[in-house]
Amino acid sequence: MDNSKIKRYTVTAALPYTNGPVHIGHLAGVYLPADTYVRYLRSNKRDVKFICGSDENGVPITLKAKKEGVTPQVIVDKYHKIIGDSFKEFGVSFDIYHRTSSLTHHQTASNFFETLYKKGVFTEEVTEQYYDEKAQTFLADRYITGTCPKCGNENAYGDQCENCGTTLNATDLINPKSTLSGEKPVRRETKNWFLPLDKYEERLRTYIEGHKEWRPNVYGQCQSWLNAGLQPRAMTRDLDWGVKVPVKGADGKVLYVWFDAPIGYISATKELFGYASLDVWNPKLEEYYINPKEVEKGSWENYWKDEGTKLVHFIGKDNIVFHCIIFPAMLMAHGDYILADNVPANEFLNLEGQKISTSKNWAVWLNEYLKEFKDKQDVLRYVLTATAPETKDNDFTWKDFQARNNNELVAILGNFINRVTVLTQKYFGGKVPSLMTITDIDQQVIDELAAFPGKISASIENYRFREALSEVMNVARLGNKYLADTEPWKVIKTDEDRVRTILYISLQIAANIGILVEPFLPFTADKLMKMLNHGGHLWDDAGSINLLHSGHQLNEPVLLFDKIEDDAVQAQVDKLNQSKADNAVQTATEPAKENIQFEQFSAIDIRVATIIAAEKVEKTKKLLKLTLDTGIDQRTVVSGIAEFYSPEAIVGQQVSLIVNLAPREIKGIVSQGMILMSEDADGKLAFVSPVQKHTNGSVIK
Ligand code: 2FM
Ligand code: ZN
Repeated sequence: MDNSKIKRYTVTAALPYTNGPVHIGHLAGVYLPADTYVRYLRSNKRDVKFICGSDENGVPITLKAKKEGVTPQVIVDKYHKIIGDSFKEFGVSFDIYHRTSSLTHHQTASNFFETLYKKGVFTEEVTEQYYDEKAQTFLADRYITGTCPKCGNENAYGDQCENCGTTLNATDLINPKSTLSGEKPVRRETKNWFLPLDKYEERLRTYIEGHKEWRPNVYGQCQSWLNAGLQPRAMTRDLDWGVKVPVKGADGKVLYVWFDAPIGYISATKELFGYASLDVWNPKLEEYYINPKEVEKGSWENYWKDEGTKLVHFIGKDNIVFHCIIFPAMLMAHGDYILADNVPANEFLNLEGQKISTSKNWAVWLNEYLKEFKDKQDVLRYVLTATAPETKDNDFTWKDFQARNNNELVAILGNFINRVTVLTQKYFGGKVPSLMTITDIDQQVIDELAAFPGKISASIENYRFREALSEVMNVARLGNKYLADTEPWKVIKTDEDRVRTILYISLQIAANIGILVEPFLPFTADKLMKMLNHGGHLWDDAGSINLLHSGHQLNEPVLLFDKIEDDAVQAQVDKLNQSKADNAVQTATEPAKENIQFEQFSAIDIRVATIIAAEKVEKTKKLLKLTLDTGIDQRTVVSGIAEFYSPEAIVGQQVSLIVNLAPREIKGIVSQGMILMSEDADGKLAFVSPVQKHTNGSVIK
C-alpha cells in the first residue's frame, strides 16, 4: 500500500485457541513480530490498533473439555486468563485482548453470517457426515481416527494424517472410529451452508497477485491453493459449542470455527471502541441487541472499512489459507470491508531439534519460563526474534539461548551501556559532558549512527524483524568500537576535553539505542531510559546526537543483563529430558484396551512368514513393498517401516503376519495382511519374530 495513503493501521495477531497455555513457538511465530511492528508504528506516531483475543470456539476446545471431564466454558475461562497473563507479562501490547465467547462476538459473527445468508451467498448442501450412534452426535473431523489411505498410519485424524501430512476428509479414512465412544461411526445426512469459494477464485487471484511483495511462503501457498482450484466449503458444523447458526432449520449447528474466529478481530475492535456498552436488553425477545445508530461514527468501522486503513494479519504458517483465501472471500462476499495488505506468516519453531508438542509436553511454556527466569522477558524476546522462523523452520536450543544472552546481550549491548554510563559517572559525576571539538573519527561515528534508523525502519516495514534487530545490535557494536578506538580511560590522563566529546557522543548512541531497541526489547528500553534519566523520545528523534543535553544528570548505572550460568540452562534441558522420559513411561504404559472375547482374538490369524523381497514404494518416505512367503502363499504387503529398515537388510527376516486382514490398497498397491511391529516411546519400530527360526506358516497363538 502506498505509504502516503495510509491513515491508520489495524494489526491483528492470530487468536490463540484456549485449550492450553502459550509457548515459545507462539511467541516467536506470531506475537513478537506483531508486537514489534506495532511498537515501531506507535513510536512513529502512527494511528494503530493492535487486536487479539482468545479463540474459544471449535473442536480443540470441546476435545480438551471432554478429556478433562469439564465443560468447555471451564476450559476457556481457565486458559483465557493464563494466556492473557502471559502476553501481558511478556509486554505484548495489545490494545485489546478479547474473547470469542463474548456477547459482542456472538452478535457480530451471527450478523455477519446473516448478511451473507440474506445476500444469497451460501449454498445449502445435504451431505453425508459421520454420526456416532452411541454418543448420539455428529462427529467433527477431529473426533474420528482411522487408517490413513496414503501411508497406512493407523492413528490418522479425520482432517489430517500427522504422519504423512496429508489433508484428509473423514470419509477417506480406512476403519474409521469415533474417539467419543470407540464405535465405528455411521454416515448420516445433514444440511450445511457452504461458501462457494470457487465463485471468488478469480477475485482472490487478482487480490493475491496484486501482492507479489508478500513473503514467498505465503504467496506460494496461496498460489498453490488457487492453482488446485477452490471448492465450496461448509461454514456451519453439527456441534453444540460455538456461535449458533442464525437461520431457521439450523438447530444443533454452529458456525464453523474458521468462519467465526477471524470475525473475532472485528468484534474485538468493536469492543475496544465501547460497542458492548451499547448492548440493550430486549425483554420480549429475551436477548440483547445493539442499536447501530448509537455507535459513534468514525470509530471501529474506520479500522475495518476505510480504504485508508492498512490491515495486517500476523499468523503462523498453518493459518495461511484461512487468512489469505477464506477470510478475504468472506469479506468480499460481505462487501463492506477492506482486505489485508499483508499477512506475514512465520514458519515453525522447533525445540532442541524436535517439533514442539503440547501433548508430549515438549515445549517451553511462557508461564513457566518467567518463574525460572524472573525478569528475563527480554532475553527470550531477543533470542526468539534473533532466530525467528521468518523464512524457514528454525530450532530453539537452550545452549543457543545462553550463548546469545552471554555473548550478545551481555557482551555487546549490556557492555556498551555499562561502560559509557560508568565512565560518565566516574569522570563527570554522572552528568552529560559538553561536546567539544569533533574529530574525523567522531564524525564518522555520527554519520554511521544517523544512517541506522532508516535501515531499521526499512527492515521492519518489510517485516524482516531478524534483520532489523541485528542492525540495532550493530548500533551497540558501533558504540563499543568507538570506545575501543578512542580509549577514553587512557585519554583522561592527558586530555579531559577529548573525553568529554567521546562520552557525549557515546551517551547519544546509548540514548539512540533506547529508542531503536524499544520495539524489540521494551523492558530493556525502559531500564535504559531510566538509567539515562530520560524518556519521551520517539523514532523520529533517532539518528540525532542531541538527545541528551550537556549537564543532564544521569541515574546510577545498573546492569542491563546478567550472565546465564550453565546450571540454569542444564536445568531446562533436564526438564525437557524428564518430559521425554515421562512420555516414554506413558507410552509404554498406555492403558490396556477394552477386554475382548477369546473368539475375537482367535479370529485373528497370525503366522510366521519370511520376507523374500523388499523395495521402497516410490514417492514415499515410510513405505516398503514386501514380498512374503507365508507358507500358504507368496503375497505382497505394504509396511510403514522404511525409516527403520533398508530393503536389503531385511530379506530373509522372519516376521509375524496377520494373514486374514482384508486386503487394502495403499499407494496403488494391494496390501494383503499386516506385519506386527513393536513400537517404542520414540516411535521406533522393531519386528516381532520367533526367537528361533520356525517354518513359514507356523501359527502364532
Ligand atoms: O491456529 C490457531 O490457534 C487458531 N486459533 C488461530 C485463529 S486466528 C483467527 F482467525 F482468529
Ligand atoms: Zn498418512
